[in-house]
Amino acid sequence: MRIDILTLFPEAVRPMMEASILGRAAKKGLIEINCIQIRDFTTNRQQQVDDYPYGGGWGCVMMAQPLKACLDWVTEQAGPRKRRVIYMSPQGARFDQGHARRLVSGYDHLVLVCGHYEGVDERFIEKCCDEELSVGDFVLTGGEIPAMAVADSVCRMVPGVLSDPACYMGESHWEGLLEYPQYTRPETWEGLTVPEVLRQGVHRDIEAWRREQQLIRTKERRPDLFEAFTPQTEADRQTVLRLTGREKLTYDCRPARSEDIPDLLAITAEASAYMKERGVDQWQDGFPNAEVFARDIAAGGCWLFTHEGAPAGVISLYTAPEPDYGAIRGAWLSRGPYATVHRTAVKAAYRGRGLADEMMQLCEDLALGRGFASVRADTHADNAAMRRLLEKRGYAYCGAVTLTDTVEKDPERVCYEKVF
Ligand SMILES: C[S@@+](CC[C@H](N)C(=O)[O-])C[C@H]1O[C@@H](n2cnc3c(N)ncnc32)[C@H](O)[C@@H]1O
Repeated sequence: MRIDILTLFPEAVRPMMEASILGRAAKKGLIEINCIQIRDFTTNRQQQVDDYPYGGGWGCVMMAQPLKACLDWVTEQAGPRKRRVIYMSPQGARFDQGHARRLVSGYDHLVLVCGHYEGVDERFIEKCCDEELSVGDFVLTGGEIPAMAVADSVCRMVPGVLSDPACYMGESHWEGLLEYPQYTRPETWEGLTVPEVLRQGVHRDIEAWRREQQLIRTKERRPDLFEAFTPQTEADRQTVLRLTGREKLTYDCRPARSEDIPDLLAITAEASAYMKERGVDQWQDGFPNAEVFARDIAAGGCWLFTHEGAPAGVISLYTAPEPDYGAIRGAWLSRGPYATVHRTAVKAAYRGRGLADEMMQLCEDLALGRGFASVRADTHADNAAMRRLLEKRGYAYCGAVTLTDTVEKDPERVCYEKVF
């Protein structure tokens, strides 16, 4: 894995990237992290990299030319590779372990562009960057700390960097749970003693205790992750049941028929009301309507999920190209044929009970089975629930589109894609 960090402060970034585990990995030739001074690629005598914003306003904006020249040089140096150019930005998709896994498995060259001041000329982002990533909903003075975070989390998963893949596979966020608590010597510190099960050394008991702690901890600290977690083993199922007092529900699914349309509309009406309560201007103008579902059903792509016979959720999968997706402001991950998920809606009684995940899984399985290498989706920028679902399932933010054939007042949508 080669990572080039384009920055105005290489001297601040380099020591961190050369320290500890990453430094040793670089010496072994497992990774290469370069910090490139953008200022070296200016064409003016003062080596100026920023200028006043058009339209006025506070601060300065980084000019496109030095960034582009710097990127061109890096690209030429690195040669042909599976490259991804990423602009670190508070406006990007929120970076998480899923993104790190996607980057380490999909690419062998990452270029991380660090903005500063008021940010970067939008035309550079549009022309030269494949995606934007944010490290959280706050604003830093520069992209250096975010770039270091991305480089670090990606590089530690490069084979050989850690002694064993188990080192990162058991950690927080690997499978949607937090890690169990850890202890080291002494056995008692400040009156607090290490839990007995860990001192007794019975491997099976330790494993069971740790797993239970993972679930307890995740439920307490990250209820959003806990709700989304679907137990795969009987032991996990029992623990979840004990912690919540409610069993994960099981659902049936089948292709929707035209006589299901009233049920489908009842499901989407609840989803519309949910979005209205949260101020999301999506599905507020009579969309999706009976005509839309009739079209979905005729195309064979509409799926009704039920629980004990009661309608619980709906999702549609389209396999024809989406006319508006060609005009994305940003870049899709893939160029090949893709399937598209639409109309993901869950009845209020089944929210937070694993259904949306199950519906997405069905669509991804169907798409894969039909030979598609990627699935795309769009949603309203304010639809935090859908964005969280997509990001949790490894979809990458790709940009924005304007829907042209819609009755909705706000036709702006953000786009995501997952490549298999
Ligand atoms: C002060 S910020 C610019 C913020 C920009 N004016 C805005 O409101 O979106 C300067 C630079 O810091 C970086 N940055 C700031 N916050 C970030 C975050 N949460 N994630 C990733 N990069 C961030 C970006 O590279 C950005 O260009």
